[in-house]
Amino acid sequence: MASTPCTMTTHASRLARASLRASRPMIPSRGVQSKATRQKRTSPNTPPPRKQYNADIQRFQERYAKKESAAAPHGIPIRVLSFMGVTILAISTYTGYLYTSYQQEVRKAQALDIPRDVSDRYNSTAPTFDAEVDLSEKAMRLGKKRADLLRLARGDVLEVSCGTGRNLEYYDLKERRGMDEQGHAAVLGCRSLTFVDLSPQMVNITKEKFEAANPEFTRVAFRAQDAAAVTVESPVKLQNSGSSKGNVYYDTVVQTMGLCSMPDPVGTLRHLARITEPGHGRILLLEHGRSHYDWLNRILDNLAPLHADKHGCWWNRDIGAIVKESGLEVVEEKRWHFGTTWRYVLRPKPDETRS
Ligand SMILES: C[S@@+](CC[C@H](N)C(=O)[O-])C[C@H]1O[C@@H](n2cnc3c(N)ncnc32)[C@H](O)[C@@H]1O
Repeated sequence: MASTPCTMTTHASRLARASLRASRPMIPSRGVQSKATRQKRTSPNTPPPRKQYNADIQRFQERYAKKESAAAPHGIPIRVLSFMGVTILAISTYTGYLYTSYQQEVRKAQALDIPRDVSDRYNSTAPTFDAEVDLSEKAMRLGKKRADLLRLARGDVLEVSCGTGRNLEYYDLKERRGMDEQGHAAVLGCRSLTFVDLSPQMVNITKEKFEAANPEFTRVAFRAQDAAAVTVESPVKLQNSGSSKGNVYYDTVVQTMGLCSMPDPVGTLRHLARITEPGHGRILLLEHGRSHYDWLNRILDNLAPLHADKHGCWWNRDIGAIVKESGLEVVEEKRWHFGTTWRYVLRPKPDETRS
């Protein structure tokens, strides 16, 4: 068929379009997509072709990674940096708050004029005492420390400053012959128990708890009395009554968390030594007081008047110095919790040195 100018023009324009298409780079772009493809992509229910889709994702990831590395020159992802920033801000705000509150409490404490004897506070705190100390005692695992100490209680036992009877569950009430911790023949368990506290409210709580838990055990007595003047009276005739002076003694004297509350801790220990059997008798103490560390002692000292006024206890006492001044013989000493918890096994000095 002969070509007319018109058909030639049409042919040339087709060639030009084809060469133009061939000269364009093979990048998938809107410009080179066919009308059908464009229609397909704009339809809301039709996903883009898989290749196109993957390429889009890859491009997005590359751009995102570029942004991230620009914002975090040390290679720490921006999200981690933000989290660290917020955490540091929260910690520093909270520390500032604690420090300000501490300073306020110290100012309050230093303005108080508290007497040395704050033991009357227990009359009012007796009903809530257990609830107040439960959590901190659990956190400090004091139950185990009480149990370990009271395993040594034997014979006729006196517990002073008994409070609400937090040691009751650890007494072995079955007196029997056996071996002590050194492998010597000994009488183990408690023959009798005498509980003493200056606060009648406190000692009543001990009595109620004991009678509910041990209705069969009758060799027990409860007295509201000052530990510094406690008399030797027992629910049974005491076995240790053989001294030339006709003295009678307890085999074991127990006190836990008591030295902090009394006005004359040294005098009280000396008195307790006088009523403890001189040969095998022991005084068992679990106390709290000053720490090994100066920074902690400064905090205890600064807040002591406030704490004493509220809780009836001087928490900054040097228990080691009190024991030393009392003149009792130290059989064993242990400390925990930065040195603030003290355990002692003591015994009276031989008869001739007793006052
Ligand atoms: C911190 S509480 C300890 C109670 C108990 N021993 C304990 O381990 O949970 C101190 C107790 O000592 C008593 N107390 C204070 N001064 C006393 C004194 N001079 N004679 C006897 N008890 C005293 C208080 O009434 C209070 O019950």
